[in-house]
Amino acid sequence: MKLTLKIWRQKNSQTKGELKTYPIDGVEGDMSFLEMLDVLNEGLINKGEEPVVFDHDCREGICGSCSLQINGEPHGPDRLVTTCQLHMRMFNDGDTIVIEPFRAKAFPVIKDLVVDRSAFDRIQQAGGYISVNTSGNTIDANTIPVNKHDADESFNAATCIGCGACVAACKNASAMLFTSAKVSQFALLPQGRIEATERVLNMVAQMDKEGFGNCSNTGACEIECPKGISLENIARMNREYLSASLKG
Ligand code: SF4
Ligand code: FES
Repeated sequence: MKLTLKIWRQKNSQTKGELKTYPIDGVEGDMSFLEMLDVLNEGLINKGEEPVVFDHDCREGICGSCSLQINGEPHGPDRLVTTCQLHMRMFNDGDTIVIEPFRAKAFPVIKDLVVDRSAFDRIQQAGGYISVNTSGNTIDANTIPVNKHDADESFNAATCIGCGACVAACKNASAMLFTSAKVSQFALLPQGRIEATERVLNMVAQMDKEGFGNCSNTGACEIECPKGISLENIARMNREYLSASLKG
């Protein structure tokens, strides 16, 4: 395939960026999107030009670091996959592909396609730890009964990889899907109930402090989420927040 790439280039967070056009040839359907960018970068390096900077680590949909807005969609046109799992067979010979960083005030651009998502780390840190009795009378986790439905829902929430696609998909740049997944994974388990009140209040307060927008229930986050995190988590977090506020 021959493609035309329009890629966001930006020197650093202080400078203005712009879309630059790069033609690329010899792209195969079996290549991943990141492998296609590797080919582009090899060509740029061979010509003595600066390669395009983009985030990646595991390249198997686990770490959440790859994060590209591809033709206006976080992680591109496929569903339930991250950018590193997206294959070039989703595109056609002659296509023009626009590649930008995730856009949100709380995710400032560091360089080219890399954004600073440390706001997510601070939201998780605000959630704190769970209390575990280590006095010598520790109860074996396997002996604490957990309802099967709750265990499954908690596990599903815990599959959030913190990629930020939900924020990039939202017209308000809301982080509700991410935060609600992190709240839910503990709120659904007995071990997480001890600090549940404090946790939801602190995480929501940190989310607001970071400058993420409000949720207006459009559901774009759920559609673009590579892990299929459900909007039900947002509803659960709202219930948790309401009851925590009444207690507080
Ligand atoms: S909720 Fe989905 S889109 Fe948002 S950070 Fe988690 S995995 Fe990514
Ligand atoms: S590089 Fe780890 S999820 Fe894509």
